[in-house]
Amino acid sequence: MKALITGITGQDGSYLAEFLMKKGYEVCGMVRRSSTENFERIAHIKDKIQLRQADLLDQLSLIKLLEEIQPDEIYNLAAMSFVPTSWSQPVLTGEFTALGVVRMLEAMRQVAADAKFYQASSSEMYGKVREVPQTELTPFYPRSPYGASKAYGHYITINYRESYELFAVSGILFNHESPRRGKEFVTRKITDGAVRIKLGLTDELRLGNLDAHRDWGFAGDYVRAMWLMLQQDKADDYVVATGKSHSVREFLELVFKYLELDIDKHVKTDPRLLRPAEVEHLIGDCSKAKDVLGWEPEVGIEQLAQMMVDADLERIKKEIASRD
Ligand code: NAP
Ligand code: GDD
Repeated sequence: MKALITGITGQDGSYLAEFLMKKGYEVCGMVRRSSTENFERIAHIKDKIQLRQADLLDQLSLIKLLEEIQPDEIYNLAAMSFVPTSWSQPVLTGEFTALGVVRMLEAMRQVAADAKFYQASSSEMYGKVREVPQTELTPFYPRSPYGASKAYGHYITINYRESYELFAVSGILFNHESPRRGKEFVTRKITDGAVRIKLGLTDELRLGNLDAHRDWGFAGDYVRAMWLMLQQDKADDYVVATGKSHSVREFLELVFKYLELDIDKHVKTDPRLLRPAEVEHLIGDCSKAKDVLGWEPEVGIEQLAQMMVDADLERIKKEIASRD
């Protein structure tokens, strides 16, 4: 079996590549051209996968890529994924995160119509939530250009499935984190920042809204759900979540307690980090994924926080040692 992963240099792409390789897949990753290589997350597997250049903005590059590789499965993970940037670059976010999906689907329809397609949909589409907890049937109310773009990607995937009988599915994934999470996302900002405080490299961590609640899981668990969705006889959409919600403050407390640090002494809230429109509370109901896919999350929030702190401690200590 041959799989194409767009966004292979990102958090999920790297975990998915590892997962598929263990299953015996030939893995091909799509990367966009850059002046310097950005392969930190896949450095350990780079020699065992193929990397091909193409870009979600360039239709012809996608068609040529699919024509050449003829993958059995396509995992479309590439996107502009950081919500705050979607307000400062709303048009580009739409190009990558919304229109990029239809470009991939159209390329598949033209030259690889027998492949199976996975779209990385997001709980951010629920935004100002219409129902608690959120299921596959909960109406969307996106609160950011990113959320609105993902809603387009979600519906165009369903539309291509229904219009052209393509095997195309959307996984509505709630927030998932790991030691490979980008440092601007709140969990990693907290673990990286707290470790730097612990090691005496800084004294302060500035955060925005501590009252927002998220349903946080582990990325390694979530890529398994992506794969399971493509192993079904029928293409369908699934919520992937833990069913437990915690505030940013609770995550912060877990990390600071683990490192024996005092929040009041080091954490400052900064109004500049508040968003123009906030998603206050997300909690997913993944009953369908449990029943149909037999999927369940294995890592809880405490284990996740500790795993991230331990990895940051190891990495930053190494950085310090290499400077000395
Ligand atoms: P991530 O770490 O930010 O990775 C995004 C990937 O997309 C990177 O590999 C990036 O490549 C690539 N990319 C961006 N624009 C591109 C373009 N024009 N052409 C080709 N590649 C491009 O994101 P992630 O956390 O792994 O998330 C994976 C997907 O799941 C994203 O679509 C995200 O929106 C979605 N999602 C994530 C979560 C979550 O909690 N993590 C939840 C729901 C949905 P570069 O390395 O070149 O920048
Ligand atoms: N990033 C960030 N930085 N967020 C902060 C901060 C801060 O300093 N302080 C508080 N927060 C709050 C945000 O306001 C938000 O309510 C919450 O922490 C989570 O923010 P992020 O970690 O940036 O994630 P997100 O929920 O906006 O988006 C992530 O999850 C989506 C799924 O729901 C991303 O991975 C998206 O790509 C993904 O689709």
